Amino acid sequence: MIASDKTNQMKEIKDEILNLTSSPLYKYRSENNFLPVIGEGNHDADIMFIGEAPGKNEALTGRPFCGASGKVLDELLESVNLKRADVYITNIVKDRPPGNRDPLPEEIKFYAPFLERQIDIIKPKIIATLGRFSMTFILERYGCSEQNKTIGELHGQQVRISTNFGDIILIPLYHPAASIYNRHLKESLMTDIKIVKTLTT
Ligand code: URA
Repeated sequence: MIASDKTNQMKEIKDEILNLTSSPLYKYRSENNFLPVIGEGNHDADIMFIGEAPGKNEALTGRPFCGASGKVLDELLESVNLKRADVYITNIVKDRPPGNRDPLPEEIKFYAPFLERQIDIIKPKIIATLGRFSMTFILERYGCSEQNKTIGELHGQQVRISTNFGDIILIPLYHPAASIYNRHLKESLMTDIKIVKTLTT
């Protein structure tokens, strides 16, 4: 796929989400003048990071991971010499759930087709999920046998997933927000990101 095709397809996704009046989160978005957060980065990236849902900073700016969690993600990327422009960063749910609550199963189901289209456009070699919601979603979506394992068991592990564009690797990571007040999780993230990086070289 040539670069402009990818850009056009991403633009179509953005336009659809902007006008998504059927979303359970659309009313909350418009009442608060929030923006949907589609994703950002390199459309030809080898690595795709998938978080949960935008927080307040993200919904105010339309950019993924630009608040406190984003600072941790930036630190992780920097520690292995990756730039945001090298990777693609998105979430399963594209609109902010009220009060930073966890995304609901119906919200995940509602927004999943957009994420699936983004994965098909980018065709990453590695998907690094951030947190248990995106990990569970990817494991179930691609029918992985690891579906019943916890993030404590699977973080930093390489899970082979079969997509319609070939086999790729899932590496579940803890959510950066969880590591802000937990030194052990932060250490795990710092170790696990190195594994992500080694797979690209
Ligand atoms: N947490 C997420 O899961 N995604 C963001 O974009 C920000 C915080």
